[in-house]
Amino acid sequence: MLKGKHIILGISGGIAAYKSVSLLRLLVKAGAEVQVVITPSGKEFITPVTLSALSGKPVVSEFFTANSGEWHSHVDLGLWADAMVIAPATASSIAKMANGVADNMLITTYLSAKAPVFIAPAMDLDMMAHPSTKRNIELLKSYGNHIIEPAEGELASHLIGKGRMEEPEEIVKYLSRFFASQQDLKGQNVLITAGPTYEKIDPVRFIGNYSSGKMGYAIAEEVARRGANVTLVSGPVSITTKVPNINVIKVESAREMHEQCLKAFPNCNLGIMCAAIADYAPAEYVDAKIKREKDGIPVIKLIKNPDIAASLGQIKKDGQKLIGFALETNNEESNAVDKLKRKNLDYIILNSLQDDGAGFGTDTNKITIYGKNGEKIPFGLKTKSAVAKDIIDTII
Ligand code: C5P
Repeated sequence: MLKGKHIILGISGGIAAYKSVSLLRLLVKAGAEVQVVITPSGKEFITPVTLSALSGKPVVSEFFTANSGEWHSHVDLGLWADAMVIAPATASSIAKMANGVADNMLITTYLSAKAPVFIAPAMDLDMMAHPSTKRNIELLKSYGNHIIEPAEGELASHLIGKGRMEEPEEIVKYLSRFFASQQDLKGQNVLITAGPTYEKIDPVRFIGNYSSGKMGYAIAEEVARRGANVTLVSGPVSITTKVPNINVIKVESAREMHEQCLKAFPNCNLGIMCAAIADYAPAEYVDAKIKREKDGIPVIKLIKNPDIAASLGQIKKDGQKLIGFALETNNEESNAVDKLKRKNLDYIILNSLQDDGAGFGTDTNKITIYGKNGEKIPFGLKTKSAVAKDIIDTII
């Protein structure tokens, strides 16, 4: 599973750094290409010479090489990686990652990483049990990072307790299992709608909404990473995606989105309707700018837009699954369950505008998933990419 994978191995300054040498060796043996990034204090425990010899690449530690001025781009590294593993992760590095304290190359790389991040904490038992460490680890989990729990046993202090970095063989197994599970949508075709729709009034004005497309794009990226071929029908948004296997079809109005969805859905195994589609469009498009002086106060007559989710629900065949979203301000549960039935969906994902950090434009969301068989699964506040993972794990 690790063959050809690009892995960043982040090493911070703890006694367990000696185990990172075995970890690096095992990753390379499994066919991974490994780039080591080490913190300044990590170098006190293990030398870059050993690490670069084993990885076959210069070790990155500083932002630039002092004598040549060569800049080491944490952004490029973050995009290159299929996974980032931080082992050992000290209490200090964990705190910095949790709070975005970007004062060394490891943390800036972590903050730039687009790929899944695996964190193997290693510290003394009291540091591990401290509320601040616990809180920081919870924060990292809420960002969608994977925590490879430390084992119990004898620590460098000779005390016995939880804090020993997991053994390199176990970390490699964890990663292999992860990459195997990542391919659980291989060969599936998935249709996703995202963003708002714009319904033209005249050449300069439209009816729209505040949707940023972030949730739909996060789902598209999660699904594509798990091996599916994604058709992402996107309304006008300012975000883009670089993840391969996503065919982005840009549309503007609900009618255009409807047309593209009707074309794509028959060949799909799964449809996820994440777009915030305008319910109404102007009945007529005025092809010259409506002028205040000439036209008085215009009355815009509206007509109903097609309900894309409902029309896909009608043509849905056995073996196809359809998921919708419900963004509600009141009577959340009954509105969501009603939509689930009315549109013939398999699941509906409720987010309430009453929850702080949920809904339009934010980077976070708080959802409850309702299934057609009466399931109800609530989740805590998480980043949209962590929410996307929860949704796909639940559906699968
Ligand atoms: O009825 P409501 O707009 O609240 O339903 C939300 C769900 O239906 C979302 O999944 C949304 O993408 C989808 N929808 C649609 N076409 C519409 C309106 C909503 O596909 N015209």
